Amino acid sequence: MSKKIVIGSDHAGFDYKQEIVSQLKSAGYEVIDVGCYDKNSCDYPIIAQTVAKRVASGEFEKGILICGTGIGMSIAANKVRGIRAALCPDEFSARATREHNDSNILCLGARVIDVNLARKIVEIWLETPFSNLEKHKKRISMIEGDK
Ligand code: RB5
Repeated sequence: MSKKIVIGSDHAGFDYKQEIVSQLKSAGYEVIDVGCYDKNSCDYPIIAQTVAKRVASGEFEKGILICGTGIGMSIAANKVRGIRAALCPDEFSARATREHNDSNILCLGARVIDVNLARKIVEIWLETPFSNLEKHKKRISMIEGDK
């Protein structure tokens, strides 16, 4: 598993991003923060596309996106081919989306869950491997239109 990760947020996710960045650094990750860098209002699609493209290109295995709901980030990131961005509001979803969907971007809603739950979701999402089961591999191929 790569210990390099790309992360981004809009203004609504800025405080949570600071928390998650320090969590990741303490866990030994090299973290690339693509913004935003303060709490001034900004446009989440730009950040989502930046993170998504850097994951889709193979530069990073995984990325994390945080906005108010996590919804805008996930919609925007999933427009990039090869991206499987999962909005996770709980621990079960974090584990299931890694095992079943091999999600490569985690989206979090800073106005939806508390920061301790966000930290736990990040930990589980990063630690859970893809199941590698044929049925899940086939379904992932179907998402890309390959099957
Ligand atoms: C910003 O106000 C908010 O719209 C954004 O953070 C996000 O929740 C969009 O989906």
